[in-house]
Order: sequence, then structure tokens, then C-alpha cells
Amino acid sequence: MSNTENKRIPRNGLPEGLHIDTLAVRTALAPSQHGENSEALFLTTAFVQPDSETSARRFANTEDFTYGRTSNPTVRSFEQRLAALEGAEGAIATATGMSAILLLIMGLLKAGDHVICSRSVFGSTLSLFAKEFGKFGVETSFVSQTDLAEWRAAIRPNTKLLFAETPTNPLTEVCDIAALADLAHGAGALLTVDNTFCSPALQRPLALGADLVMHSGTKYLDGQGRVMAGALCGANKLIVDVFGPSLRSAGMTLAPFNAWVVLKGMETLSLRMKAQSEATLAVARWLEAQPNVARVYYPGLASHPQHALAMRQQSGLGGAVVSFDVRAHGPEAARAAAFSVIDSTRVLSVATNLGDTKSIIAHPATSSHCRLTEAQRQAAGIGQGLIRLAVGLEHVDDITDDLARGLSQL
Ligand SMILES: Cc1ncc(COP(=O)(O)O)c(C=O)c1O
Repeated sequence: MSNTENKRIPRNGLPEGLHIDTLAVRTALAPSQHGENSEALFLTTAFVQPDSETSARRFANTEDFTYGRTSNPTVRSFEQRLAALEGAEGAIATATGMSAILLLIMGLLKAGDHVICSRSVFGSTLSLFAKEFGKFGVETSFVSQTDLAEWRAAIRPNTKLLFAETPTNPLTEVCDIAALADLAHGAGALLTVDNTFCSPALQRPLALGADLVMHSGTKYLDGQGRVMAGALCGANKLIVDVFGPSLRSAGMTLAPFNAWVVLKGMETLSLRMKAQSEATLAVARWLEAQPNVARVYYPGLASHPQHALAMRQQSGLGGAVVSFDVRAHGPEAARAAAFSVIDSTRVLSVATNLGDTKSIIAHPATSSHCRLTEAQRQAAGIGQGLIRLAVGLEHVDDITDDLARGLSQL
């Protein structure tokens, strides 16, 4: 395989201008000499080199297949497919979503650089920026997800990166990607958007001006709750020239088997995102009508503070995560009520994942956000009565009946 064929750019002979549904099924490396119709899984650590000259050339180029930490054909197919869906020049795969953020910071920043990040991002993302990167001299300012003036006020001469997630986990707050991109570029910084919640089936941050998209492929890209995966997507001057060498050194590489599972999962991404978003809207409307529910957080509802922006930015759909506060007085009663609703379910899975065909119910304060201090949780708006529901593909009536079991008894 020549160098050009091997780049992280979709070029397997497909015509230009294909729709996202087609790209999700068709984009991959060209088949092997056997002509397999379903993409092959290459389980190999090393790649045999035809001669020493070729080997020397390939080892000098992180794009060539030499050793599994650097690259693998199945992983490359995953990268090409995701890049095509995001409208990116390239993508680089990582073992998990969190290791994609690690690669982002390791590749882009150095001690003395400054990051601005929404304070409503996923709990582990918050911990990574607040605790881990600080050890290496990268300081992060946390700002409101939705108040652009706070982002603007946080800019410093050494600000190199703005990091946003939209909608956020679990409160589904929506930020304006185009406005943040303008702000970042005016300050000479880059904008990275965690697009896990919407996936490229609903939202394409690069088209709105973001420089990089980050994914937890563990969620909707796989779509069936099977494997961990992550990725960064963007221009090849970053993906190939900056992140490629960092990944080769640090080894947060995606396993070929996981890449193959997610590659196949992406083939049904658009169908799932549409069906799950429609079901979530129905569940959210039902929740809004329940007397024991104090508040529902879902961008697809007209009552959501950023509803209009979300509809514009997310192809008219709200995504498949809805959160709600049970009605109760004081944190202890709220926690007991939330636990009782969760424990009364018989269909939903009590777990902390999302993006699965199986609906998942979770208590963020004691799961995804349990490592935050109470003050950090309060600042992020994660109360003890908050329940997050990641809607899957069961019938909507079975989901609402399952929630009604506990809610009707509060
Ligand atoms: C929005 C978001 N970003 C990142 C992550 C981290 O991804 P992973 O668990 O694949 O490391 C998660 C996990 O739930 C998430 O919800």
C-alpha cells in the first residue's frame, strides 16, 4: 500500500457528495485481495515488511502499517469512516473517549498554556482538566456552558484551547458552537467539541467552525454497549502531524477488535439516532406531565432554555438523553426518592453508560459525578434528586410504564 493510499483521508474510490447514511456504510479502506464485502478484522501486532528499504521508509512515517501501537488497517477504516461522517480531513482513534482528551492535551499543549472549559462537562472530563493536567502546568478556567460573556472574560494571552461538550452530560445544556469558534479564533486559540451526545448523525461541529471534534466511541458510534473507543477528528496537519506522533509515543491506541465493532456499529448510526431521539422526545413529554417530576432537562422540549439553538445545531432533534429531577424537599429526601424510582424499574438497566440500544437509568450524583466534591456538584447543577435516562430502542410505552412504577409511589 502506497503512502498516499494509506493517509487518514477517505479515498477508497467512492464518488464525491455522498450522503451521511451512505458514508456510514461504505467508507473504509479498500478490501483486501479476497474482496470481502464486510470489512476485515486485522488482528496482528506487527506488519511484515518486504525489504529493509521499505521498512525504513515506513517506520519514518506514522501513517504506514508497521507496528500495532501506531496503526492498523481495521483501526484506519474506523478512522476514515468517522472522519467522513464528521466532514473532517482525518481522524485518529484512541482506546477510550477520555484517552482522546489525553491525546488532545498531550499533542497540543505545553506547561504554561491555558484552557477554557465549560464547568458542565462530563465528570471525568472535569477531573482530567481540574486535577491531572494541572500537574503538568496546563491550567484550566471553568466557565458557564451557556454564558458567552464568561468564556470571553476568561481569555488570557496564553489561552490555547476552548473545550466544550454539547449537549452536556447529564443536564443537556447546549452551547453555541459557531459563537465559541469565533471567540476561540479571535483569541488565537482552537475550539474542540465533544460530540459524543449527538454524534455526527445529528451535529457536525467542524461545519460550524470548530477545529477538532472529540468522541467517546463507546456511546452512539458503537451503539450497542459492547466496546470502549475514542477519537479526535480534524485537519490532517493536526491529526497526522501532531496527534499521530504523540499517539505513537504514548500508546493510547484503539484495539483492532474494538475498532471493528464500532466500525460496524456506525453503519446503523443515523437510523438509531433518529429512532432514539424520537422516543426520547416522547418520554420527555410524558415526564413533563408527571406530578412527581419537578423538572425535565431535554433540548427537544420547547421548555428547554436553549431549545431554538439546539434545534438549529442538532438537525432538529434533541438526542437520546433526558434527565429529570424528582420532586422532594431537601437533598436526603431527593436522594431517597431518586433511588426508589431507579430501584422500581424492571426493564431499564441501572448502569452508567449511554448510547446503547438498551435504555439505561442512572443517578449521576453517585455514579458519573461521584468523584466531584459536593461544591463542584452543586456548581455543575447535579442534585441528589437528578436521574439520567439514556433512551434505547425499547417501545416507548414500556419505558414510561417502567418509570411510572416508582414515580407513582413517591
Ligand atoms: C460526553 C462524554 N464524553 C466523554 C466520555 C468518556 O468516554 P469513555 O468512557 O469512552 O472514556 C463520556 C462517558 O460517558 C461522555 O459521556
